[in-house]
Amino acid sequence: MSEQSIAEKILLAIRATLNGTEGRFSLHEPKFSEKESVYVQDCMDSGFVSSVGKYVDRFEQMLAEYTGVRRAVAVVNGTSALHTALSLMGVGQNDEVLVPALTFVATANAVTYTGGLPHFIDCDEETLGVDPLKLENYLGDICQTGTQGCKNRLTGRRIKAIVVTHTFGHPVDLDPIEDLCRRFGLVLIEDAAEAIGSLYKGSHVGNRGDLSILSFNGNKTITTGGGGALLCNDDALGDLAKHVTTTAKVPHPWSYVHDRIGYNYRMPNINAALGCGQLEQLPSFIERKRSLARRYAAAFKAVPAVRFFQEPEYARSNYWLNAILLDTSIQDSRDDVLTLTNRQGIMTRPVWTLMHKLPMYQKNPRMDLTTSESIEKRLINIPSSPIL
Ligand SMILES: Cc1ncc(COP(=O)(O)O)c(C=O)c1O
Repeated sequence: MSEQSIAEKILLAIRATLNGTEGRFSLHEPKFSEKESVYVQDCMDSGFVSSVGKYVDRFEQMLAEYTGVRRAVAVVNGTSALHTALSLMGVGQNDEVLVPALTFVATANAVTYTGGLPHFIDCDEETLGVDPLKLENYLGDICQTGTQGCKNRLTGRRIKAIVVTHTFGHPVDLDPIEDLCRRFGLVLIEDAAEAIGSLYKGSHVGNRGDLSILSFNGNKTITTGGGGALLCNDDALGDLAKHVTTTAKVPHPWSYVHDRIGYNYRMPNINAALGCGQLEQLPSFIERKRSLARRYAAAFKAVPAVRFFQEPEYARSNYWLNAILLDTSIQDSRDDVLTLTNRQGIMTRPVWTLMHKLPMYQKNPRMDLTTSESIEKRLINIPSSPIL
């Protein structure tokens, strides 16, 4: 009998984890209970399906309690939350914002919406998030710090902020990043779009950023159809975030006065109704997802040159999207793995194309991106739904 190929070994490890079951498996599908139907029906019966209603307030309160932040503001998606966060933090025309090259395109696009420029930075293979040591050396080389904050010596532009992502739900190492933000005068934004339910050193992610964001897209751990939230620990900032995401309308029984340029980003009540039911299920989703990750870890131990990505030691991850990393010696097999698994009904995907390779970002400033470029060739996401 001929020896199994690496793609066959990976297929078997996935099938073994999914209890050998035949059938099709998507990357991440939502799970709904009776609760969601009851809340959505109640919302429809109330007639308040848009931006006003009890479910939006309730969802925000539940989110703040769950994540441990003072304020949560529900919006239409994670991208609008990022755009709002960057605008409120004063990112504007020609400001540079440090953004991982390894992220979903929304992180970079939100910077562009403000008139700023994403400046791409590298990640650490152990966390898949920003590499703080490499960043420290880089900023030491290129930054001139003064009363205006941090100026990029090479471009003459201000570096105003950094957006860090908790890739696939795995918390980035926030302590050293916070330290860099203090030293270089940078605003910190946590893009926790993928990380609801993940803890960094015992606290929910999103507590360290000046502003942080979540996403409730249909492929996330919990969903509101489309949706997102801003998180912060500053009441005044929370009020402002709510104000600008509701078109900056000055509260009044009948007159329409808007006191600044705002955005129509408020989450509709009907989506929030769905979200309330989903949040009630979140602890059980996290338990199931962590159990699936443990089963994958055990199955992949037997597959040489393949590493099932596990949470960093300081974190408790939600394991939003499970990932395997091929050793460089077998990285040329990646497309065979993708072809075989997808042909067999098991949805697998390569990681996002790196931001600096996308046509609109090819000329943007960047540091050396060797680690991200290596990971791009070797990472594969595998089925991760809470129903598995
Ligand atoms: C890292 C990251 N940032 C931002 C977003 C944007 O969220 P949304 O799709 O809700 O706009 C997503 C997900 O879709 C994401 O994965």
